Amino acid sequence: MNVLVVGSGGREHALCWSISASPLVDSLYCAPGNGGIGSIANRVDISPTDIDGLIGFCRSEAIDFVVVGPEQPLVDGLVDRLSDVGIKAFGPSARAAALEGSKGFTKDLCAKYDIPTGAYGRFTDAGAAKAYVYASGAPIVVKADGLAAGKGVTVAQNVDEALAAIDEAFAGRFGSAGSEVVVEEFLHGEEASFFAIVDGRSALPLASAQDHKAVGDGDTGPNTGGMGAYSPAPVVTEELHGKIMSRIIEPTVTAMTAEGCPYTGVLYAGIMIVDGEPLLLEYNARFGDPECQVLMPRLKSDIMPVLLAAADGVLDQVDLRWCEDVALTVVLATHGYPGDYSKGSVIRNVNSAQELPDVTIFHAGTDIQDGNLVATGGRVLNITALGSSVREAQERAYEAVDVIDWPEGFCRSDIGWRAISRES
Ligand code: AMP
Ligand code: GLY
Repeated sequence: MNVLVVGSGGREHALCWSISASPLVDSLYCAPGNGGIGSIANRVDISPTDIDGLIGFCRSEAIDFVVVGPEQPLVDGLVDRLSDVGIKAFGPSARAAALEGSKGFTKDLCAKYDIPTGAYGRFTDAGAAKAYVYASGAPIVVKADGLAAGKGVTVAQNVDEALAAIDEAFAGRFGSAGSEVVVEEFLHGEEASFFAIVDGRSALPLASAQDHKAVGDGDTGPNTGGMGAYSPAPVVTEELHGKIMSRIIEPTVTAMTAEGCPYTGVLYAGIMIVDGEPLLLEYNARFGDPECQVLMPRLKSDIMPVLLAAADGVLDQVDLRWCEDVALTVVLATHGYPGDYSKGSVIRNVNSAQELPDVTIFHAGTDIQDGNLVATGGRVLNITALGSSVREAQERAYEAVDVIDWPEGFCRSDIGWRAISRES
């Protein structure tokens, strides 16, 4: 079968890596891919948001199955358009992707179907949003309703910060994504990511993971797309796993069907664990990045039958086997990220690092130029290692990081610290 993966990040490299190992795949393409993906898939120079371009390519190359990585094309209706022309895809329809595309939609769904989450209000004018903030006090969280490339959330420590965030959103900082805001109760606890594959009717849990959003050691500094991750997340005990499935994931799948927009694809729940109980922070309609880079190396089963079963609505016919090992990934980023950074610096010794035992390197913002591997983005490489404990996986990952010669790059030195403190 001919398969197209849409996207260009570390997540898509990890997906291509798993998919390329499947005997079901004849030809694998990735649009647009990156400098690492080119060695396992045919790169196609089409943007993930160019829906007409992607459809045209699928028709001309007889693509049988499309796996969509990022959220924007899902919210824009790529899966619906593919389905209209008879091409099977893994990912939700535009209406179902509203779980990520509209925070207000998700909060209303939680309220209607009794799914545990923080108290909230939805507002289309600044005055009413501010009145809610005054009435609630701080800390409080202000969120642009729509997709804002991970920048639409302000955790305000005081009322003034919350008011400023409301003004910014309504002044157009996030474009139309901020024309509505959700103001939400601040939840104090520990965060974890939980992933399930859904086929419209039922949900197959994947594994838990934790990522490190802040740019600096000790979880300090501005938030990023994620500076590292590990799976499983020891904080998600068997009991908590059961509660997340029965109180959050399964009721959401049922609710989406009842609302007339059954959900298919990966359901990624951002969970806050408060006094041992899981509350939903947000949904994403896709794999996490860098969480996908620690899920794929732990997956022992062929991923393709699972993705196909989700698209076909027969997930009950497959099961998944995971290796017991822990996977941990360290993100190498260009100096300056998440602010401004330069492009085009040369990265050396990636192949030597990759040869270390139990190490896999997933590329993100890289390209091959004049035979050199160069950095083209903020997050650039994901150095991933397996180990029998988080500590062992961490040691192996950082050994590989040390082999890489890239003066223009940096990474956090403490990925996994929370889980390691639980191990000792
Ligand atoms: P989101 O994009 O909704 O996941 O928000 C980004 C980050 O903001 C989350 O990963 C949390 O760290 C934080 N956050 C979001 N909502 C809340 C909340 N209600 N209480 C506390 N922190 C939150
Ligand atoms: N790692 C966070 C995200 O993918 O949204």
